Amino acid sequence: MIMDGNGRWAQARGWPRLAGHRAGAETVRRMVEAAPGLGIGTLTLYAFSSDNWKRPQDEIAGLFRLFARYLKQEAAKLAEQGVRFEMIGRRDRLPGPLVSLVEETESFTQAGTRLHLRVAVDYSSRDAILRAVEAGACDRESMQAHLGPDVDLLIRTSGEQRLSDFLLWECAYAEFSFLDVAWPELTETEVREALEDFRSRDRRYGGVKLSRVQALR
Ligand code: FPP
Repeated sequence: MIMDGNGRWAQARGWPRLAGHRAGAETVRRMVEAAPGLGIGTLTLYAFSSDNWKRPQDEIAGLFRLFARYLKQEAAKLAEQGVRFEMIGRRDRLPGPLVSLVEETESFTQAGTRLHLRVAVDYSSRDAILRAVEAGACDRESMQAHLGPDVDLLIRTSGEQRLSDFLLWECAYAEFSFLDVAWPELTETEVREALEDFRSRDRRYGGVKLSRVQALR
C-alpha cells in the first residue's frame, strides 16, 4: 500500500503536516489489525521513500519518531497477533536507535505466521534491484529471493496514480487500485471493496482465457 495524502489531509484542516502523519499511523494500526481477516498474507507499507529525504528536517524527524513510537507501542501486540514485522530499505542512513528498535521488533516477531508486515523505510525499488544485482542476483528466482514476493494488489490512496519507485520488479503483474480517499481516512470497508474488485478481475499474465483458447480451436 502506498500511504498517500497525510500532508494534504492535515493542511486542508489547517493543521501541520505532522498531524496528518500522526493520523496516518492510526490507519497503519487499523490496517494491520484488519489485514488477516481480509485474507491478506503479506502487507507492504511505503512509509518513507529514499526521495523523502528532500522533505523539511522536522517532518523527517517527526516521521521517524512516529515510526519508533509505533514499534514500541505495537511490538507485543504484533507478536500476539501472529504478525511478523520486517523493514525493507536502507538502514545505514537511519538514526541508530531506530535501527536497533527495528531489529528488536524483527526478532521479537519472527515467529509470526498470520501476517507478514513489511514497512518500507528509506526505500527505493531501483536501489533495491541494483543491490540485488550487486549481490549476484542474475535470474528471476534469485531476484525474488532478494526482493520479496510478487505483488497481487497495489493500493494507493489520495488519488495519485503512480508507483513512485515502489516494488517495481515485484509489481510486474500487479493489479492496481487507486483510491481517492486520503490515507488517514482509509477504512477497512474500502480495502474490502478494493479486494472484492481485485478478486473479480481476470488475471491472464499475458495469456488468454481458457474458454477463449477452447473457442479458437
Ligand atoms: C505520504 O503522505 C505519507 C508519508 C510520506 C509517510 C507515511 C507515514 C505514516 C503513515 C506514519 C508512520 C509510519 C508507520 C509505519 C507507523 P504525504 O505526506 O506525501 O501526503 P501529501 O501527498 O498529501 O503531502
